[in-house]
Amino acid sequence: MRKGLFYITIALMLVAACKTKKETAKTEVAPIVKPPLDCSTSGLTFAAVQSIFDKNCVSCHGYGGDAGYNFLTTADIRRAAEKGELLGTIKWHRGFPKMPAQSDQLDKASINLIECWIANGMKE
Ligand code: HEC
Repeated sequence: MRKGLFYITIALMLVAACKTKKETAKTEVAPIVKPPLDCSTSGLTFAAVQSIFDKNCVSCHGYGGDAGYNFLTTADIRRAAEKGELLGTIKWHRGFPKMPAQSDQLDKASINLIECWIANGMKE
């Protein structure tokens, strides 16, 4: 009887684990909308957005964090942006986990800056 309970507990934990994973899975892709933003700011480089990532993201996405991406440098940021995940997560689009996790949404100015940096070709 004790043993049975033990197995049931393990099974429930596995089900719970799977469920959490499913909830964060992408169920739909956010529509690609051309930003109604003025991104004409010339010379927008990574330096303009780096502090946003440093302050809000690299605690989990970097330094051995276990959140899939490493946002200390541009390589993974580009990869996330090209897949649409970067804007999807910071703009809290449906179907994406809300980033930064366990925090308030980034302020609009920061989101706009990142969006423009992407629109301008993610310059180094
Ligand atoms: C408190 C930890 C934490 C912080 C801070 C955080 N993330 Fe995440 N992030 C995660 C975890 C954990 C995952 C993977 C699990 C998930 O999908 O929820 C993830 C996943 C992602 C993904 C992949 C989403 C997908 O569709 O698979 C992107 C993109 C992302 N984060 C971007 C960011 C950005 C940008 C920031 C900063 C603005 C940020 N995260 C801050 C923990 C964090």
